[in-house]
Amino acid sequence: MEHSTQKRETFSGRRAFIIAAIGSAVGLGNIWRFPYTTYENGGGAFIIPYLIALLTSGIPLLFLDYAIGHRHRGGAPLSYRRFSPHFETFGWWQVLVNVIIGIYYAVVLGWAASYTYFSISGAWGDKPIDFFLHEFLKMGDITQGVSFEFVGVVTGPLIAVWLVALGILALGVQKGIAKSSSILMPILVVMFMVLVVSSLFLPGATKGLDALFTPNWSKLADPSVWIAAYGQIFFSLSICFGIMITYASYLKKDSDLTGSGLVVGFANSSFELLAGIGVFAALGFMATAAGQEVSEVAKGGIGLAFFAFPTIINQLPFGEIVGVLFFGSLTFAALTSFISVIEVIISAIQDKLRMRRVKVTFIVGLPMMFVSVILFGTTTGLPMLDVLDKFVNYFGIVAVAFVSLVAIVSNEKLTLLGNHLNETSSFKVGFFWRLCIVLTTGILAFMLFSEGAKVFSEGYEGYPAWFVNTFGWGMSVSLLVAAFLLSRLKWKDEELAHKKGE
Ligand code: PHE
Repeated sequence: MEHSTQKRETFSGRRAFIIAAIGSAVGLGNIWRFPYTTYENGGGAFIIPYLIALLTSGIPLLFLDYAIGHRHRGGAPLSYRRFSPHFETFGWWQVLVNVIIGIYYAVVLGWAASYTYFSISGAWGDKPIDFFLHEFLKMGDITQGVSFEFVGVVTGPLIAVWLVALGILALGVQKGIAKSSSILMPILVVMFMVLVVSSLFLPGATKGLDALFTPNWSKLADPSVWIAAYGQIFFSLSICFGIMITYASYLKKDSDLTGSGLVVGFANSSFELLAGIGVFAALGFMATAAGQEVSEVAKGGIGLAFFAFPTIINQLPFGEIVGVLFFGSLTFAALTSFISVIEVIISAIQDKLRMRRVKVTFIVGLPMMFVSVILFGTTTGLPMLDVLDKFVNYFGIVAVAFVSLVAIVSNEKLTLLGNHLNETSSFKVGFFWRLCIVLTTGILAFMLFSEGAKVFSEGYEGYPAWFVNTFGWGMSVSLLVAAFLLSRLKWKDEELAHKKGE
């Protein structure tokens, strides 16, 4: 067959892989999620569940993802299929989760890019919240019905970020993904360091740091704090999304897998800590300037980036520069993560249909771009983003992680993967690693059922039930069904789908 001899692309070496993997890991989760999650969940005391989650679940699962991808040398569905023919559905499930995440990650990326420009033009004026919701997003009130009116100012940058990302992806694994990360990541680190160090000199910075780090030990008795720690680790390291399986499948045969995993894991957490310091120093300044407590201004996510930061920037002497550094960092961090999300989809389809990368990139990317514009270039974008994020990004990921781990553990495949890691890696894994994976499976079940029961009985954030049922539960179930159907589709090259590796 024409394509079956086509060789799988590879990273030029371990460095290229590590920088791309860090590019995927370091994203919005580090900058706008970690600081507030830490603050809300016990401050300095949160470091304990966080470190436990990192060492006993995050890094072990990162190794597991690497082992699956590297041993079977395929995107998520092909790797799972080669692992066991019954496992292919897991791979497609992950692919579909990435389809949804990609569609909305692009939106936030587009906003961040717009705000980098707004920092210079000062477009948000002195009421950043009003500007963001009403002038920029032209957001409607969801309780008054859904409106799908187009918002031009959001759509342009959204299309632009899609095209940039697709351009990079079309260039391939080494020339596109690794190359772009090797340019963007160092710039990101420098910009971010300047930002964090200067934030420490702001009046009130220590007040912010006190608020972030003062430990509240009693929080450790609260299970939701532990769930938050595991959730943060899974999201932040991009594990169980199929991303690390895909990237590891592009590593050469004799690569040090666990050694690289340790570098990626610790680099990601260091960036997180840095972001915590910078963000809370800035919030301390904001609170001091307004004569308020840090608790009154502390926020995460959209509120932090698009409400609090513009307010802080307004009050600073070199606000424009700080704005460009902050939103530029957000843009670069999100871009490299976004690329990794889309690569999971591209790689899966390339394997199944044996098509060339450039063609697949646009076959996948353009329709997704279209959906992303239709759904989020409109006035209902924000609530939809919120609901999709909770269901797909939390329930979807935790569920697929749980089910795939049960399958792997109960089929006694862990030793196989452990041996694979040990063949080429510097840091050896053994009983303790397997134990961590088994314990993690239990933790995932707990996360799934406790949070599921809560949302099921209480609804989600006061959104109308039909909205949560359609975009939340409805979406989650359809993804699973669609994943199963995709796994039933015939492989273009059956022989390839059975081989254990190339
Ligand atoms: N790890 C990325 C972050 O910290 C987010 C991400 C998660 C990106 C999963 C892709 C997939 O922001």
